[in-house]
Amino acid sequence: MPKPKVFVTRIIPDAGLEKVKFHCDAEIWPDLMPPPYSVLLEKAAGAEGLLTTLNDRIDADLLGCSPRLRVVSNFAVGFNNIDVEAATKLGIPVGNTPDVLTDATADFAFCLMIAAARRLIEGERAIHASKWRTWEPMGYIGVDLIGKTLGIVGMGRIGFALAKRCHLGWGMRVVYTDVHANAAAEKELGAERVDLDVLLAESDFVSAHTNLTEETRGLFNAEAFRKMKRTAVFVNTARGPLLVEKDLYEALRTGEIFAAGLDVTDPEPMAPDNPLLSLPNAVIAPHIASATTRTRNAMAEIAADNLLTGLDGRPLRCFVNPEVEPQRRKV
Ligand code: DGY
Repeated sequence: MPKPKVFVTRIIPDAGLEKVKFHCDAEIWPDLMPPPYSVLLEKAAGAEGLLTTLNDRIDADLLGCSPRLRVVSNFAVGFNNIDVEAATKLGIPVGNTPDVLTDATADFAFCLMIAAARRLIEGERAIHASKWRTWEPMGYIGVDLIGKTLGIVGMGRIGFALAKRCHLGWGMRVVYTDVHANAAAEKELGAERVDLDVLLAESDFVSAHTNLTEETRGLFNAEAFRKMKRTAVFVNTARGPLLVEKDLYEALRTGEIFAAGLDVTDPEPMAPDNPLLSLPNAVIAPHIASATTRTRNAMAEIAADNLLTGLDGRPLRCFVNPEVEPQRRKV
């Protein structure tokens, strides 16, 4: 029995890659940079399975030109890079890697919150620029977290995990917006579900955890920043296009909000001349919230399992589109 032909678009941890190599005829893209779309098209056209990352655009055209494709396994919890509706129509199951990155991502959102609130990067830059002259009674004054209000936009797994840390560790009040009420967050943390306007007006920290959809694209714009407190810190560990970067720049530059911490930008990487990089009150990381050994290994294992179960015609371990089952492509 020949092994199924798969294309893996990046080198992922051995915890998953070894399994894929053992069970499949796998071609693995070796570069640091993702394969260009034209290469992806060509590889997908002959593949039965794809193991992709959030950098790969898996759109309706690509899916339509891939007659043998029986599964797309994304090495990420987010799947906005994949046209899931088109995949479902074509009978192609799509997998992702939820849960295992919740803690690492919530930790990193907290890290951005406190780094931005306490002006850590500004201070560090000053040292590197030989500008640290003395201890200053009035220098680098930041904002506290203790007892403040945290606004979670999207109370899913990661939002809840951040809210837990902030409520249980820092005594923060939690307000949130979500299309669904989160009963556990309300019971365990006393979280209050409010309108976005109320959240923006009352929160000292606003953290974005919502999916990127056509409804949420550009949600954090000039109007939203205007509604926030002048002492507010905005954090985004979800997806870059949730915010309008030039509006955030203006809000930070003019002191409309105090600071921001971003792990995601639009595009990625951020252009070196992006004005946000010139601001002392913007803390920007290169999309690394899930980057811990344990987390990335666990993501690799799930991504491999999704790929292999998908090729076998079994339900995926983490299924984005279980509704595909009745019309699923057969070997
Ligand atoms: C995801 O999984 O969607 C993150 O953005 C990267 O781990």
